[in-house]
Amino acid sequence: MLLLLPLLFEGILCHGPGTKAAHILGLHHPAAEEPPAFYLLQTSSFANHSWQHTQSSAWVGELQTHRWDNDMGTIVFLRPWSQGNFSEEELKHLQALLQLYFHSFPSQVQELSSQFQLKYPFEIQVLSGCRLHPGKASESFLNAAYQGSDFLSFQDNSWKPSPGAGSLAQNVCKLLNHYRVIKEIMKRILRDTCPQFLAGLLEAGKSELERQVKPEAWVSKGPSPGPGRLLLVCHVSGFFPKSVWVRWMRGQQELPGTQQGEVLPNADTTWYLRVTLNVAAGEATGLTCRVKHSSLRGHDIIIHWDGYPIFLILICLAVLLTLVMLVVADSWIKKQSSNVNICSLHGLRLNVPTKVNIQEARNLGHQLCLAQKSWMKNSFLNKCKISLSKLR
Ligand SMILES: *[C@@H]1O[C@H](CO)[C@@H](O)[C@H](O)[C@H]1NC(C)=O
Ligand SMILES: *[C@@H]1O[C@H](CO)[C@@H](O)[C@H](O)[C@H]1NC(C)=O
Repeated sequence: MLLLLPLLFEGILCHGPGTKAAHILGLHHPAAEEPPAFYLLQTSSFANHSWQHTQSSAWVGELQTHRWDNDMGTIVFLRPWSQGNFSEEELKHLQALLQLYFHSFPSQVQELSSQFQLKYPFEIQVLSGCRLHPGKASESFLNAAYQGSDFLSFQDNSWKPSPGAGSLAQNVCKLLNHYRVIKEIMKRILRDTCPQFLAGLLEAGKSELERQVKPEAWVSKGPSPGPGRLLLVCHVSGFFPKSVWVRWMRGQQELPGTQQGEVLPNADTTWYLRVTLNVAAGEATGLTCRVKHSSLRGHDIIIHWDGYPIFLILICLAVLLTLVMLVVADSWIKKQSSNVNICSLHGLRLNVPTKVNIQEARNLGHQLCLAQKSWMKNSFLNKCKISLSKLR
């Protein structure tokens, strides 16, 4: 379940409460100088008038810091620094407030649902949080989506329907705006508590949040997109932070057909990305995959599409040549003296038990050598064959 949360996060970024949320999350700017924001994510699914399920998590930038335990009604701290600089008492207070919220939210929504005759099943997502702008006032936000589309937001101490959300959103906002105390609490939490908590988290989690891990990159051939065409795949993995730039290039020219996948989480909190290009088979020569990432400090990774196979052909040729030479040398030495232990050619030293007679030992050594040679030949030849067959 935990592993799915970053995906959910990603889902909200790309398909959830629309471009507005993506803009607020601000992850589109690769060279963001500002510290990461704090996000509280809530997803509630309502199956019918008596069944709902809510999932909640908190994030600093791309790192999950907390989740809500529905059964215990407690905050789960996921990192050693997840308490920031808040005292036990402040955290207890916060937890009590969240208990009240998560307890009353489902029944309030169910009530609204019968009042406005909402059709089941439906899903509500809430994204709230804050970000600090060094030297300027902090910024807070709360956006809610209904069935995956922007629905309403909390701004300037009141609930506002999202543009295009229709009369349902307008009516719900009108109703919510009657609850003065709730608005006051929301305002205080968003304006004061959130930025204070975030400042403490940024300080306590500094080393993990500012961690830089270099990506590894490699290229491979994808399933053929059609006759005479190639799918070039560039894999980039193990990087942190998440922002990365990967393109297929011809020289300094970015190729327009580059298709970028979603940035997916690795199990160790680093990220993975796959970028593909569909080209005519004859046009793949000379293409490169270029990777820019903050950890590389301007030294981009450049992988040549055809560099790797040529390198491989050369190794295969060298190995074949060595094998041929060994066989020639072998038979020449055999002719010179049939008593020489052939294995010494391969650097294999046999420790023969003293009681075994010399002739037996020679035979044993000879058999071992033959086995070793044929294994070497077969395994290298197979590897060469596989690599060469991958070329086209
Ligand atoms: C409500 O939905 C849940 C989950 O799908 C289901 O198990 C339950 O039977 C439903 N209850 C009613 C009254 O329809
Ligand atoms: C936590 O740290 C921030 C910034 O360093 C500060 O503004 C805030 O008052 C601190 N809070 C507590 C409870 O110490």
